[in-house]
Amino acid sequence: MSERGKFISLEGGEGVGKSTQVMALADALRGRGLDVVTTREPGGSEGAEAIRELLLGGEEERWGPQAEALLFAAARADHVARTIRPALAAGKWVVSDRFVDSSLAYQGGAGELGIEAVRAINAFAIGDHFPDRTLVLLLDDGHERALARDDVSDRIGGRGRDYHHKVELAFRLIAAEEPERVRLIDASGAPEQVTQRLLEAIGDLLP
Ligand code: TYD
Repeated sequence: MSERGKFISLEGGEGVGKSTQVMALADALRGRGLDVVTTREPGGSEGAEAIRELLLGGEEERWGPQAEALLFAAARADHVARTIRPALAAGKWVVSDRFVDSSLAYQGGAGELGIEAVRAINAFAIGDHFPDRTLVLLLDDGHERALARDDVSDRIGGRGRDYHHKVELAFRLIAAEEPERVRLIDASGAPEQVTQRLLEAIGDLLP
């Protein structure tokens, strides 16, 4: 049996360059000889991708806060069961573009549910499948950049400045609560520099 792989999630608000860094980090890990699976949320498995359409499309009022949080958690349960757990068991590393901390920050911290309620439904959804390390990318003007690129057109990205400000505060709070798992990463500067910071923040996990 191969040794279990490691599970890394990348988090952050809108416009922080997360998707680019997921690819760059995965490439860097592959360069170290690791077998790496990249995935994303909401989505990452067939069922979860179907739920993604329900969550990100349609009118802002389509779902109430509870239904929205439960749909994210349902998608995540499928993502863990069908994609993440099997990959880790096969010795692969998993790098996910967003995971449970997005729900804690968006639905919990910025929405009206509170972080603890969202943590509870996600505990049911994922069991003990927390990431080995969660890297939160922070950029002062991230939301402004996303607005400028018109990259905030989905149901959640389209929420106001106040909501997105609360998302960032919640990520900082979660990092303060769980400093071993969750690390804040400065996402400013050249993409290669940011990737280097990510690698340093998982240095202790590397073989
Ligand atoms: P996506 O197009 O993947 O955007 P991004 O590039 O910002 O990751 O859209 C995902 C949106 O869903 C994004 O606005 C964050 C939000 N989201 C939540 O509100 N809760 C969650 O649990 C997850 C995974 C995402």
